[in-house]
Amino acid sequence: MQILENISLKSLNTFSIDVSARYFSRFKTIDELQEILNWSKLKGLNPMILGGGSNVLFTKNYDGLILKNELIGIEKVKEDDSFVYLKAGGGVVWHDFVMYCIKNNLSGIENLALIPGCAGASPMQNIGAYGVEVKDSFYELTAMDKQTSQAYKFSNSECEFGYRESVFKHKYKDRFVITDVTYRLSKTPHFKIEYGAIRQQLEDDNVQELSIAAIANAVIAIRTSKLPDPAVIGNAGSFFKNPSVPEEQFDLLKEKYPGIVGYKNTEGLVKVAAGWMIDRCGLKGFRRGDAGVHDKQALVLVNHGKATGNEILEISKIVRTAVFEKFGIEIVPEVNII
Ligand code: FAD
Ligand code: EPU
Repeated sequence: MQILENISLKSLNTFSIDVSARYFSRFKTIDELQEILNWSKLKGLNPMILGGGSNVLFTKNYDGLILKNELIGIEKVKEDDSFVYLKAGGGVVWHDFVMYCIKNNLSGIENLALIPGCAGASPMQNIGAYGVEVKDSFYELTAMDKQTSQAYKFSNSECEFGYRESVFKHKYKDRFVITDVTYRLSKTPHFKIEYGAIRQQLEDDNVQELSIAAIANAVIAIRTSKLPDPAVIGNAGSFFKNPSVPEEQFDLLKEKYPGIVGYKNTEGLVKVAAGWMIDRCGLKGFRRGDAGVHDKQALVLVNHGKATGNEILEISKIVRTAVFEKFGIEIVPEVNII
């Protein structure tokens, strides 16, 4: 066990915010994790678990212990006529896991290609993209209680998944380390190409025979064309969630703004594209110092270089106020603000 002190987190968060952690350690095995948890208990700390750092905004130096999850490995845990159950260590890079499934002809998460971060964080906010969410293929996970070091299994329903939500963001916030996740992948492909520009991209790619690899490639092409690469420009993907409003409210907005984008869901609510609203507020490409709104996707806030977390947070407040004043809709952050 190696505990480092006053470590820079700049290369460990995709916003590239230059803050430091009072204590920092990594774990590659469950034994190492338990050893560090024992140490942190003695210090009276509740460590923060970090995966790829692609959904966090640090607003100050972290005055505690940050633990980087480096539990790797993918294994088949069972198989039946229709499905293969694959378990991934919490530190496995999510996109590598997606590619592993595709290579083995296992369908379910191909639409989630190129989402940054680690497998261990995938259930945290039920990651989703292009018509698919983790909850559609998720089977179970193992989580260790940070205070008692006891391990528990959580099934799909026990994770209480919702849109960018899970039990780990509410009832069990900051309590567990997710050490592994198991997905139930289908041996028969179920193609989902209705969302957004996938169909068009498949046509542009001249795909003659549909396959999970072709879908992943289409998703990768679309994502690359509009989302900033964190290696080039700091960001954490969508900064806000898309808000849901009652249908009547949406219909009134539609009269006033015929171009407004919304998707009806089952509960009589319409999920409104926050990026469209921010764009219509004239904020796409808005910049103050090194903090700003991405010029191709207004839902993404960016660090052009040396922005601080608070400067990004300030931009987020400007955006929230503008959207509320123009559309009367509150938008809330998706990113974890630390
Ligand atoms: P981190 O940022 O390291 O952590 C996120 C939160 O989870 C923190 O609170 C952390 O403490 C906690 N956590 C992480 N790992 C564990 C663990 N093992 N146990 C307990 N707690 C843990 N998200 C989407 O849903 N859809 C998208 O399409 C999408 N696109 C993105 C595009 C870009 C360019 C970027 C930068 C981000 C995007 N995201 C998207 C957000 C992000 O990639 C996901 O939320 C991802 O799952 C975060 O994984 P991570 O390992 O980086 O988590
Ligand atoms: N739009 C604009 N201007 C913009 C941005 C978007 O007019 O600047 C319009 C688009 O033209 C489109 C609509 O808004 O009609 C929705 O845009 P897009 O398809 O890009 O998706 P999004 O709602 O902005 C969501 C997720 C993404 C996910 C994509 C694809 C949330 C908060 N975001 O973005 O997830 O990749 O759909 O499924 O739900 C993330 O969570 O970090 C993330 C990137």
